[in-house]
Amino acid sequence: MSVLRAGNSLLLLIMMMMMMFGPSLSAPRSFSIDYKNDCFRKDGEEFRYISGGIHYYRIPRVYWKDRLLKMYMAGLNAVQTYIPWNFHEESPGQYNFNGDRDLSHFVQVAQDVGLLVILRVGPYICTEWDMGGLPAWLLKKKDIVLRTSDPDYIAAVDRWMGKLLPLMKPFLYQNGGPIISVQVENEYGSYYACDFNYLRHLTKLFRFHLGNEVVLFSTDGNGVSYLKCGTIQELYATVDFGPGANVTASFEAQRYAEPHGPLVNSEFYTGWLDHWGSPHSVIATAQVVKYLNQILATGANVNMYMFIGGTTFGFWNGANTPYAPQPTSYDFNAPLSEAGDLTDKYYAIREVISMYRKIPDGPIPPTTPKYAYGAVKMRKLQTILDTVEILSVSGPVKSMYPLTFLDLHQAFGFVLYRTTLPVACNTSTPLSSPLNGVHDRAYVSIDGVAVGILERNKVLSINVTGKAGSQLDVLVENLGRINYGKDINDFKGLVTNLTLGKNILTGWTMYSLSIDDAIKQGLIQEKEPTLSPPPPPAALSLPAFYRGSFIIPDGVPDLPQDTYIKLPKWRKGQIWINDFNLGRYWPDRGPQVTLFVPASLLSTAAPNNVTVLELEGDPCSSGPCTVEFTDTPILNATVPAHYKQRWGLFTREDLLD
Ligand SMILES: *[C@@H]1O[C@H](CO)[C@@H](O)[C@H](O)[C@H]1NC(C)=O
Ligand SMILES: *[C@@H]1O[C@H](CO)[C@@H](O)[C@H](O)[C@H]1NC(C)=O
Ligand SMILES: *[C@@H]1O[C@H](CO)[C@@H](O)[C@H](O)[C@H]1NC(C)=O
Ligand SMILES: *[C@@H]1O[C@H](CO)[C@@H](O)[C@H](O)[C@H]1NC(C)=O
Ligand SMILES: *[C@@H]1O[C@H](CO)[C@@H](O)[C@H](O)[C@H]1NC(C)=O
Ligand SMILES: *[C@@H]1O[C@H](CO)[C@@H](O)[C@H](O)[C@H]1NC(C)=O
Repeated sequence: MSVLRAGNSLLLLIMMMMMMFGPSLSAPRSFSIDYKNDCFRKDGEEFRYISGGIHYYRIPRVYWKDRLLKMYMAGLNAVQTYIPWNFHEESPGQYNFNGDRDLSHFVQVAQDVGLLVILRVGPYICTEWDMGGLPAWLLKKKDIVLRTSDPDYIAAVDRWMGKLLPLMKPFLYQNGGPIISVQVENEYGSYYACDFNYLRHLTKLFRFHLGNEVVLFSTDGNGVSYLKCGTIQELYATVDFGPGANVTASFEAQRYAEPHGPLVNSEFYTGWLDHWGSPHSVIATAQVVKYLNQILATGANVNMYMFIGGTTFGFWNGANTPYAPQPTSYDFNAPLSEAGDLTDKYYAIREVISMYRKIPDGPIPPTTPKYAYGAVKMRKLQTILDTVEILSVSGPVKSMYPLTFLDLHQAFGFVLYRTTLPVACNTSTPLSSPLNGVHDRAYVSIDGVAVGILERNKVLSINVTGKAGSQLDVLVENLGRINYGKDINDFKGLVTNLTLGKNILTGWTMYSLSIDDAIKQGLIQEKEPTLSPPPPPAALSLPAFYRGSFIIPDGVPDLPQDTYIKLPKWRKGQIWINDFNLGRYWPDRGPQVTLFVPASLLSTAAPNNVTVLELEGDPCSSGPCTVEFTDTPILNATVPAHYKQRWGLFTREDLLD
């Protein structure tokens, strides 16, 4: 009795305190796996997530809220993002979480919008990103075995996670934030190494920094063979598969690893990635919604990969094997376009979700308007050869045999390799990379005249002529490190010797080129006029810079707006908008023709500067010397047949060579 009375007054006290302090005294926030009822539990209630993939590192910060709100309005209750290690630690121990890399801010905006967050921390994340998110500097130990217990690899991972995970800990759901679960590694079962000690080490590390409560999980392909090396007891195993897969069989595969617990497809493909030279990937909306509906009907949790793909700005793209780099756009044929536009796929997916979950009331943020600023006249500036001393801040390095980018402490972009012809080549003589060691593309000139292009896997030899002692310049471009499979140790530069006829070329002088910095500092000048006639239009010319500028017109409301840049009749190169490295253009190879230019790069206070590095030849002697800003993207141009890879829509198996 007295106990009951004491209980009653205690209850009263609690109720009074709850009225005074609100929800702070209600049940603690919790998120867990219910193995008995095969579901997640959030605050004790059965919970299912319908999530969408969004990569903060592919969207300018000012647009994070817009994209997240559109996702929320589609009926999603969660978003999933990877975290690219190399984006946040470009050199060892130097961390960058500012501006467009402000991960905490992204997580906070997601929470403010009303979305939970699923973090895919890696360290390896694939994601069609340079080296799958691993920093290239790991390769300074040349024989490092990535994604294993290799002690140097582990030491670097430990340092990074010691920085990243404490930053994320306050955002865990239990701690009042939106993060409900954290993925360890990524599709590890598809990697040859199968090092369970590595997975165990990561799990311990994550637990040490994040605590015992957070749900840690793994993701693998939808077959028992993938799950074998991808899962360990301490991680909750999930699978990934796209439209066309047998949903029942795919979840049966998950059940092989997890006899009980929620069904989860961590990557349901709404579209697919592109490669330069392969047709643009399209997955029909009808297929996507049919399979999404099947997945949701089973009661499973799902993350749509991607819900918005965005843009791989600058030099950040990766490549698949056999070597095929990905283009600048990561549109992915996703329900929100690269520019965040609402598509038919968006509305169709929203309709499917509405059969399972109440869609929030209120307006969907509209598609942002695009503006066609029109043609911008370009002036030719200096060539790479004119500017090599300016661009090479650290000065030339000499070596008998060629050094790699990493030997020269350079991660991305271009290195110029210079030597002389040891003998006269009176007749055409093959300049070759017999071991296929041009990583990845080389623009060759002799005595300042462009003579040809070598390309990894594609062009291993060109014929040249020249006098003994002529200057040979080989400008080598890193086109992106392999991000999937066993070849992710992808060194750049001339990674093997070049030969001229039977001779190995020696006596190299190498220039690391800091082009981003030179453009920021305005170091590249207009070229002195020369008397020599312009080269014939079809021929190659020396890699050179071009600049133009345009002002945002007066009297049009709401400018600046987003736009797209295209370079008709230009061939291949890199674009900077107001010193921001926008990305590669390569209309010659396709399928991408336009590059997305977010309004946030444009200024109304000064003329906007467009800098182009054209590597093969400008259109200026045969037609207008202009680039063009348009309001319509083109990502699906037909590609020249001779560049087509054997895959269009490759399957995971194709990548496992
Ligand atoms: C899908 O897989 C299930 C379970 O393995 C099997 O029974 C069914 O026949 C498959 N469906 C199709 C269309 O292949
Ligand atoms: C190449 O041409 C130069 C001068 O034109 C000549 O002196 C030399 O002997 C020639 N070399 C060969 C191998 O034919
Ligand atoms: C180079 O020249 C040789 C002999 O003149 C010829 O057989 C070969 O096809 C040429 N190679 C290329 C890549 O043009
Ligand atoms: C280049 O050739 C030399 C001499 O044969 C050899 O010692 C060296 O290892 C080669 N370098 C590379 C990167 O293959
Ligand atoms: C473009 O370049 C000019 C000349 O260097 C400079 O004055 C101007 O501020 C630049 N515009 C922007 C938007 O940075
Ligand atoms: C490219 O996509 C647009 C818009 O979806 C379509 O109208 C056009 O036919 C496509 N072009 C090619 C070459 O497939």
